[in-house]
Amino acid sequence: MHRSSRLPASTTPNPLSLALGRMREEGRPVLDLTVSNPTACGFHFPEAAIREALGGPETMRHRPHPRGSLAAREAIAHHHGHGAHPADFLLTASTSESYALLFKLLCDPGDQILVPTPSYPLFEWLARMEGVEAVPIPAWLHDRWDLDFAALDSAAPRARALCMVNPNNPTGQFLSRREWRRLTDFCAARNLALLVDEVFADFPVEPEADHWPTAFEDPNPPCPVFILSGLSKVALLPQVKLGWIAARGPGAMEALEALEFIADQYLSVSASAQVAAPALLGLAPNLRAQALERIRQNIFALDAWITRHPACSRLPVGGGWSALLRRPALEDDETFAVHLLDQEGVLVHPGHFFDLPSEGFLSLSLITPHDTFRLGLEGLSRALGSR
Ligand SMILES: Cc1ncc(COP(=O)(O)O)c(C=O)c1O
Repeated sequence: MHRSSRLPASTTPNPLSLALGRMREEGRPVLDLTVSNPTACGFHFPEAAIREALGGPETMRHRPHPRGSLAAREAIAHHHGHGAHPADFLLTASTSESYALLFKLLCDPGDQILVPTPSYPLFEWLARMEGVEAVPIPAWLHDRWDLDFAALDSAAPRARALCMVNPNNPTGQFLSRREWRRLTDFCAARNLALLVDEVFADFPVEPEADHWPTAFEDPNPPCPVFILSGLSKVALLPQVKLGWIAARGPGAMEALEALEFIADQYLSVSASAQVAAPALLGLAPNLRAQALERIRQNIFALDAWITRHPACSRLPVGGGWSALLRRPALEDDETFAVHLLDQEGVLVHPGHFFDLPSEGFLSLSLITPHDTFRLGLEGLSRALGSR
């Protein structure tokens, strides 16, 4: 059987996954400081209301519409505010699917998209599975992460789109207002579409004063802008499988018509997710408040821990669910993470999982249950002390 070259040649697990597999086989407990599944973090979900929303009588009717139901799009437009209109939106089954639809819309096989790093690691494969190459563009850490515009400039001629995550995962950094202007002008001049993943935009933690809170603030960007979000973060409900794309800027209406054609081939958004969306978005502020409270509690614990470990530091968390911890890079981050797991049963992500530009970074999930987070930090103290 021929195997498509879009797939990885082999799927050998990395050393950290192997170590985790061993721990689980041996039945040893793991303090997981990488958890990103909000349904496994001890939040209080109003279960009866969620079940009722997902199982109402309307879910028994199949009323396919490739853009998604108007009622769901109205609720989503209302959630975003800033003059967002239901006609700006198309529903998908997830943010990952939104990327797949957008790469189909914007790229021919062999085309390139530009992906600033460090960032969300799925880009490479989401692009490859559409026959598209994701070209990394570095951002360098000075007093904040600065995108390398010279690298962006030289990669642009062969690319169709630039993908930004605002605020970024895992750096937590929001774009600044100045960067927004510069990026949209750059994309307009270079004939690029700008994709802005804002799944974490509703989780501002310690944003800088001049941060750019959401692409919805710009009603008339000079380049085509596609804004991505979904219930997996907005309502802490990844299992419901509802994402969306909003199109703005030149060509937005034509783009939405073309996206509608693509979505029509799949019709992947379930009736339940669409029918439930207004009610779930109504429940979402309470769920987000729980997550933000947890994030703040964990940051507080992390900062207290850092006062006892002055060789370590935390990068600012503009927004989102993760923090980057810097540590002296006496060995590479993966070796340290495997050691931490083996010795202390504490799981963290080494920075290179997110293409951090150097060793000495660990990524911690701030939605980790607080007791687990605190115990994990104690294990981290011992592991650092033993190196
Ligand atoms: C930046 C970013 N975008 C998208 C997603 C995934 O969203 P979805 O579950 O809607 O595919 C994640 C998940 O962690 C993410 O970090």
